[in-house]
Amino acid sequence: MTSPEFFQHIVRSRRVTRQFLPAPLSEHLINRVLLDAQHSPSNCNTQPWQVHLVSGAARDRLSEALLAADDRQHYTPDFAFDMQAYTGVHAQRAQDSGRARYEAIDIGRDDHAARLACLRHNLKFFDAPHVAFLFMPQISDYVRAAGDVGMYAQTFLLSLQARGLGGIPQTLLGMYAETVREVLGVSGELKLMFGISFGHADPHSASNFVDVGRVALTESVVIHQ
Ligand SMILES: Cc1cc2nc3c(=O)[nH]c(=O)nc-3n(C[C@H](O)[C@H](O)[C@H](O)COP(=O)(O)O)c2cc1C
Repeated sequence: MTSPEFFQHIVRSRRVTRQFLPAPLSEHLINRVLLDAQHSPSNCNTQPWQVHLVSGAARDRLSEALLAADDRQHYTPDFAFDMQAYTGVHAQRAQDSGRARYEAIDIGRDDHAARLACLRHNLKFFDAPHVAFLFMPQISDYVRAAGDVGMYAQTFLLSLQARGLGGIPQTLLGMYAETVREVLGVSGELKLMFGISFGHADPHSASNFVDVGRVALTESVVIHQ
């Protein structure tokens, strides 16, 4: 069974969701997505992802703890995230996507309060009913396992898309790794890459229809013959 058109449609129509409807998904549906993601490839089939799925009261408790940690500026990332490290075309692309995102929801460059509220919306999981936290064990310098977790995340996102659901990977959640581990009772040996909030996308929210585009193939691919 092949359906390249369907695959192309799913891959190219996917966008991150930044406003969810609160209705929870059925256990059956979540299980389908988890099973799809479990089929992701990994180095030597090591499958290093450890996923903590958070819903219901646990989700609400965690969101409150994250907002409180943010109030205290209690940042505890397992892995650095420094926007200053992005220079040249990478800094430019980040800037362009930020502009497209804020223009779509009518938030001006100097509207710091609204921008801060957007940032804090991350910690409310954009109102999503479920969040999957992607952890991994320490294996060497983490790079191989991190690549595997990235593979897992993409399969997860495409599975959501194919089922008419929305999702968003959130590095920002990884900035509060200690808080997440504490609330969920996760061992310090597991390091947090990011979380994926997911559920039904709000069909009326402009923030769910931002097309940030992609650069031309020639910017990314060099062909040798
Ligand atoms: C690993 C990863 C982490 C991300 N972290 C965040 C985040 O913390 N907050 C956020 O609003 N968007 C986050 N994003 C979403 C990206 O900004 C988004 O994927 C990118 O702008 C491309 O948009 P698109 O996925 O809709 O095509 C993240 C994406 C990835 C892949």
